[in-house]
Amino acid sequence: MRDDQARVLRSKVSVKETKTIAIVSGKGGVGKTNVAVNLGVALSLQEKRVLIIDLDIGMANVGVLLGKSSKTSLMDCVKRRESLADAVVEVSPTLHFIHGGSGFTELTNLTDPDVAFMMKEFRFFYEYDFVILDLGAGATHQTFDFISSADEAWLVVTPEPTSIMDGYAFVKLSHHHATELPIGVIVNRAMNGEEALETFDRLELVSKQFLNKPLRFAGFLPDDPTVIRAVKAQKPFYLFDRTSDVSWRLDHITTALTGLRVQERKFLDRLVNRLKNRNNRVR
Ligand SMILES: Nc1ncnc2c1ncn2[C@@H]1O[C@H](COP(=O)(O)OP(=O)(O)O)[C@@H](O)[C@H]1O
Ligand SMILES: [Mg+2]
Repeated sequence: MRDDQARVLRSKVSVKETKTIAIVSGKGGVGKTNVAVNLGVALSLQEKRVLIIDLDIGMANVGVLLGKSSKTSLMDCVKRRESLADAVVEVSPTLHFIHGGSGFTELTNLTDPDVAFMMKEFRFFYEYDFVILDLGAGATHQTFDFISSADEAWLVVTPEPTSIMDGYAFVKLSHHHATELPIGVIVNRAMNGEEALETFDRLELVSKQFLNKPLRFAGFLPDDPTVIRAVKAQKPFYLFDRTSDVSWRLDHITTALTGLRVQERKFLDRLVNRLKNRNNRVR
């Protein structure tokens, strides 16, 4: 590596500011947790310090996908006035996760002393380069106070018309509660890049037409049987198979956050992937 390249890399690695990304969706089962967890894993492998906060109360799946369980939640710590760091589960030195706990996103459940305690304790968040919030489906007026505190919301949609409609419902609610909140769109389970862009265009068209709100295309992930295999093995797909289509596409998403280049995909990686998936392909 050239000296100037090394300098650029060092300056990128020692980012001081914490970026907070809220992973959201209109409807459930579109891939939020998979995006949150694998994004976290990929960033952590690039020497970024990452904290994932599981805020989906009904289906707290972050720990399941990481093969780890948490003993206590953020909410428990706040109520018991224990250090929030006690709730942090260390997956690797650079990847941590924490469970929000029941009622955490509804800030109305918190008393003034709770809030004062939290504000003091929350300082440890700034030790991370990225804080990723995995939210439940369908934001409500209450959870919006929470979501709108993030630097950016990443809305996960699939190419199905119902998912686009539900995604638009989120954009509308967000426009009402947090007009300035930037929204990035991740199209998950797309057949290819073309379908992903079509999906994005459809969503952005209505968003611009009715709300005058532009959206940002944050990337796409293909529909890939690797994801299902990885979920069954209780492993993030990015660790389960780094050479898969879906992992390679995730690299394109993370590179936009880190500025680091995506490695060229090798002929053999592509071929092996085709061989592995040949039985799942629609003929
Ligand atoms: N890109 C993908 N390719 C194939 N299957 C996927 C993909 N993304 C998600 N899935 C499937 O959808 C299921 C739900 O994903 P999950 O991340 O838990 O969604 P959410 O958190 O939005 O409810 C996964 O268990 C997996 O079976
Ligand atoms: Mg989920």
